[in-house]
Amino acid sequence: MKIILDCDPGHDDALAIMLALASPELEVLGITVTYGNVGLENTLNNALKIRELCGSSVPIYAGVPLPMIAERISAEFVHGRSGLDGPVLPEPTRGAETTRAVDFIIETVMQHPNEVTICPVGPMTNLALAMRLEPKIVPLIQQIVLMGGSTGLGNWSPAAEFNILCDPHAAKIVFDSPVPTTMFGLNVTHQALALPQHIQAICQNGNKTSLVAAELLEFFKLAYQKRYGYAGPALHDPCVIAYLLRPDLFKLEYLHVDVDCALTPSFGRTVVDVYQVTKHQANTHVALEVDADAYFALIAERLAQLP
Ligand code: BDR
Ligand code: CA
Repeated sequence: MKIILDCDPGHDDALAIMLALASPELEVLGITVTYGNVGLENTLNNALKIRELCGSSVPIYAGVPLPMIAERISAEFVHGRSGLDGPVLPEPTRGAETTRAVDFIIETVMQHPNEVTICPVGPMTNLALAMRLEPKIVPLIQQIVLMGGSTGLGNWSPAAEFNILCDPHAAKIVFDSPVPTTMFGLNVTHQALALPQHIQAICQNGNKTSLVAAELLEFFKLAYQKRYGYAGPALHDPCVIAYLLRPDLFKLEYLHVDVDCALTPSFGRTVVDVYQVTKHQANTHVALEVDADAYFALIAERLAQLP
């Protein structure tokens, strides 16, 4: 399966990159980077470092540095000042490509019509701009599998999840498009808490990448304990990649999702018609449940394949 991973590393983004690069079923055509958890300069540098660590030569493309209309927010509180605080990471020996992420998305979808799965695990500004800059790509995208939103509460405002709140207008463009879309929101990713036994299993692989992944999870844990009182960090972004590898680990329902773009306290909320109380046609496969132990076993098994 051909994928483009659009991310803002970010601790859980880093594990999503590792999982994708460790999985032979996936052909990662490119990693596109967005602002998000921290500014673009740092998220890009973090993506380059994780590629270096994984010994991969996948091309990396810099995306847009700002949301379309919303004010930029960021998540240093969770990911540290660098966006990937915790372990010592290798300095990149190779830089990003000169092509911009938005152009790469357009060119790649045109080159491989109906074959590319786009996986946004950060704000969706790159993808929304690509869809607007070249609308011809919209019917040619095979599917979008994203991390963002929630059927319930938010994590960055009482109503909104971070990725969607970063750029609600971009998210609305994506959800309103006719592209088959699957959503992994907080309602499912908060079931995927990296508990001590899961981190321990990754650590026991003993390879360099697994040790870094375990250190990232230890750092990530602090914010989740402090802010949300959770026993472990919610490992959001790798859910998207795990679903492509093992859809049987998740339970989903086909539902209508809208994004609140009004300047109210629920700005950035994904409004999911869980009980199908409206007549709106369903537009999104919404993940509702995950087998968390099997999810972490998959991650540990795959990370063992990396350097
Ligand atoms: C999302 O926000 C980011 O901080 C994480 O990387 C994840 O993509 C969770 O709300
Ligand atoms: Ca992310």
